[in-house]
Amino acid sequence: MSILVTGGAGYIGSHTLIALIEAGFEPIVVDNLCNSKKESLKRVEKITGKKIKFYENDVRDAKAMDKIFSKNNIDSVIHFAGLKAVGESVQKPMEYYDNNLTSTFVLIDAMKKHNVKKIVFSSSATVYGASETVPLKEGMPTGATNPYGRTKLFIEEILRDLYVSDNSWSITLLRYFNPIGAHISGTIGEDPKGIPNNLMPYISQVAVGKLEKLHVFGDDYNTADGTGVRDYIHVVDLAAGHVKAVQWVLGNEGCEEINLGTGNGTSVLELKNAFEKASGKDVPFVIDPRRPGDLGEVYADASKAKELLGWEAKLNIERMCEDSWRWQKNNPNGYDK
Ligand code: NAD
Ligand code: UD1
Repeated sequence: MSILVTGGAGYIGSHTLIALIEAGFEPIVVDNLCNSKKESLKRVEKITGKKIKFYENDVRDAKAMDKIFSKNNIDSVIHFAGLKAVGESVQKPMEYYDNNLTSTFVLIDAMKKHNVKKIVFSSSATVYGASETVPLKEGMPTGATNPYGRTKLFIEEILRDLYVSDNSWSITLLRYFNPIGAHISGTIGEDPKGIPNNLMPYISQVAVGKLEKLHVFGDDYNTADGTGVRDYIHVVDLAAGHVKAVQWVLGNEGCEEINLGTGNGTSVLELKNAFEKASGKDVPFVIDPRRPGDLGEVYADASKAKELLGWEAKLNIERMCEDSWRWQKNNPNGYDK
């Protein structure tokens, strides 16, 4: 079965390609490479021994999308393509609304035209907004605190409306918590542009000597050690969750929001300590003020994914750190040689 993977050259997409191939699916990638490199696909080919069909196109390009659907017998879509930097979305809201929303409109149009009604969408735990209640469970109130989060919230609403208008659609809205880690080969991983905004790539760049020290954003939260707590999930577990979601949309009709997290919280200092242990490197740090917009504690109730998809995360924080470090150490400049 053929699965169209938009944004398949990116961090989560590239790991999901491997999981799809291992499960016997044929992934077809469309990506404009605005935040990724073709090299990631070459490395996936090396890991899997399979050639990947790749279209270097923008998902907003309706003609190109029509051609992709005409030329391939697509059974289902995983829609990863989108811009994802929270800070940048505040600076450039129109770019975020255009990229994330328009790509979804164009994609849905092409799917309708070619009678493909099965889609797995990359949403985010960010749709729970400023909720202070943990664990976060599907069905709790949603909200958004920045344009990036609003694009995810709007797309969720749009896809729900689509399902209400036509019950023969099958849709999963996957709410990821904090993906980290890398494939065990150490040949693919997260490759952020410039100085990383997220914690794990920042820690690993300190460990490899590219950045001087970690800035811990606040130690006065109401958590065990005062630093922010998040639900880190290994990207390989996340990829496996996508295979289960694809299998679900292929076999069911409906529209379901599903958390993909571990259900466990880890603080900034706990993650730093685990990383030091896994890498054998020191990660010097300073305590800075809280980052505006950050919450103290965010973690999932992961029970729905288990009940509906038969999926649960398996890999622990130690593995996440070991695998992130192997990727960072072997590729200090990411996919750039
Ligand atoms: P990524 O930037 O590595 O991957 C996204 C891919 O989409 C990139 O390869 C990029 O080139 C491509 N892309 C963007 N706009 C495109 C367009 N208009 N046409 C074609 N290709 C386009 O990001 P990721 O971390 O792999 O995230 C994948 C998805 O998951 C995104 O939608 C993101 O918002 C969502 N998400 C990510 C996280 C996270 O922490 N990484 C958390 C929650 C949700
Ligand atoms: C961020 C985004 C969120 C997105 C998620 C996954 C913001 C406000 N939120 O969430 O929308 O879905 O990434 O991509 O950007 N931290 C430090 N020092 C750092 C970086 C982070 O102490 O240099 C702390 C943060 O305060 C937080 C934790 O580490 O407590 C995790 O931060 P991060 O990796 O940026 O993820 P989120 O804040 O959960």
